[in-house]
Amino acid sequence: CGIVGYIGHREAYPIILKGLKRLEYRGYDSAGIALFDGIDLNMCKTKGKVADLQELLENKISTSGQLGIGHTRWATHGVPNDVNSHPHYSNSGNLIIIHNGIIENYDALKKELIKRGYTFQSDTDTEVLINLIEDVMINEKVKLGKAVQIALNQVVGAYAIAVFDKTRPKEVVVAKLGSPLAIGIGDGEFFVASDASPFIEFTDNAIYLEDEEMAILRLDKDIKIRKIADDSLVNPYIQKLQLNLEQIEKGGYDHFMLKEIYEQPLAIKDTYRGRLLVNEAIIKLSGVEDNMKRFLNADRIIIVACGTSWHAGLVAEYIFEDLARIPVEVEYASEFRYRNPVITEKDVVIAISQSGETADTLAAIKLAKSKGAFVFGVCNVVGSSIARETDAGAYTHAGPEIGVASTKAFTTQITILTLIALRLARAKGTMSSSDYRRQLQELELIPEKVTEALKADKHIQAIAETYKDSRNMLYLGRGYNFPVALEGALKLKEISYIHAEGYPAAEMKHGPIALIDENMPVIVIATKKGHYEKVVSNIQEIKARKGKIIGIVTQGDVSVRELADHVIEIPETLENLSPLLTTIPLQLLSYHIAVMLGKNVDQPRNLAKSVTVE
Ligand code: G6P
Repeated sequence: CGIVGYIGHREAYPIILKGLKRLEYRGYDSAGIALFDGIDLNMCKTKGKVADLQELLENKISTSGQLGIGHTRWATHGVPNDVNSHPHYSNSGNLIIIHNGIIENYDALKKELIKRGYTFQSDTDTEVLINLIEDVMINEKVKLGKAVQIALNQVVGAYAIAVFDKTRPKEVVVAKLGSPLAIGIGDGEFFVASDASPFIEFTDNAIYLEDEEMAILRLDKDIKIRKIADDSLVNPYIQKLQLNLEQIEKGGYDHFMLKEIYEQPLAIKDTYRGRLLVNEAIIKLSGVEDNMKRFLNADRIIIVACGTSWHAGLVAEYIFEDLARIPVEVEYASEFRYRNPVITEKDVVIAISQSGETADTLAAIKLAKSKGAFVFGVCNVVGSSIARETDAGAYTHAGPEIGVASTKAFTTQITILTLIALRLARAKGTMSSSDYRRQLQELELIPEKVTEALKADKHIQAIAETYKDSRNMLYLGRGYNFPVALEGALKLKEISYIHAEGYPAAEMKHGPIALIDENMPVIVIATKKGHYEKVVSNIQEIKARKGKIIGIVTQGDVSVRELADHVIEIPETLENLSPLLTTIPLQLLSYHIAVMLGKNVDQPRNLAKSVTVE
């Protein structure tokens, strides 16, 4: 989600509106604005884009006021509708809030507040937070800033918030944990936003709040920043913004793709957050739980998808068969829908789609449903066509993916599919409880390990420099990492236009080996647990034919290092989780090669992010 706020001497509305448009890359399924003109509070919110809000608002409410906040939402929990849109206000109507993030313990807090007589209009965690703040204000007889601080100390989760009290309209209180928050400091005015893009033309003085910090923005006073936990004062560090607008929206990264590659640790965590409960040894997925019978009675699972999502499906095939012992078929949605497939009521179909709008996948779902199959969706975009068309589902919580070449959608799809497979494995009894626990523990560690894998970036950049002028590349992997080889090759093709092919490593001898000479770089995924010795033999075959070898290996590897021209290390993990790590260097390699070749990384030629034609 994106948040923006203004307090000062200018009219707030045009600033907030333009700011929201700039933040729409952060999500656009609903939007809202609240404006205060000193007497009246005017608020308007709606499902849809900022442009929809603008149309509605300008006919409906007065747009005057020098204090305002706005929000553009990318729904993660709760459908995007008018009521769930931000801003939200407290029961008294005095406190108004915008919030980006998730309050994890909102349910317990809400129950407590209901007991105290609070009522709620929406399903959101945000409405709970604003009433909690109000409750603190009343009970502790404190002003807004203090109340925000006390309330946030009771909250578990992530947030970037801006709150004001319309009975004290000279200040706005902001706070941050996990979600970004930038403060723009003008002359007698303050701006606040998820990134600096909404205020870049007004001021180049900005403060980026750190986690667990809050600030009181008072018109007649200097800014005060405090630690939420212990109230200690923090010296404000005012930065001179040197970025242009486009760079800012990319959070300082040169391209959305790179930003999204680097967002993977958080995206994976967001995807398992609240679903993977390691201490209790539980996986909570309501879409699976509610339909457990359909899953357990299924003769087989058919996975339909396109592009990168299809590769995630292939990884899932290995996971489901290996862990839950359920037969799986993975189908290109476009082929499936046109080849008169055999589908029965006993089939479970899993449709995977980042956008939730891919026409072929949608058509495959409709076909499967018409034959009586149960269809489960794995989508990233909440409320998308596929999410609506399927019988049940589980969202990946990757956040908006803008780069056409899919990165964080892929790893979050694998994350959610792993959770589903593990849940079914437990229900079917195909896995011992100790193995199950081990899986949960390891999955929880994946974000850290992805961060570790990302540290090879500079090294990968050097490798990219060496091979950027290659005409062809070959990607090899076995088992769980065969689909990763396919995905690595696809990434390179998509953005650098270099011809690349992915193959199961052992299949090389049945054809692709003929291509190998000193001009052929071969990327081999050779991690410790995935048929390591066999892959080492494959590497020897390549070496004998003078191919250049780039090995993706487990930290501390010795054998491949001796044979390969380059190795890229990734941390050790369970074999079935290794695709979440081996993918990372392949994404970075394609990215750097494409940049070095001067290609348009985020919008490669001929491709579209969401293909709504068949
Ligand atoms: C397009 C995109 C790919 C994506 C594929 C499937 O081709 O360029 O990156 O993998 O569609 O998209 P979906 O949204 O269904 O995952």
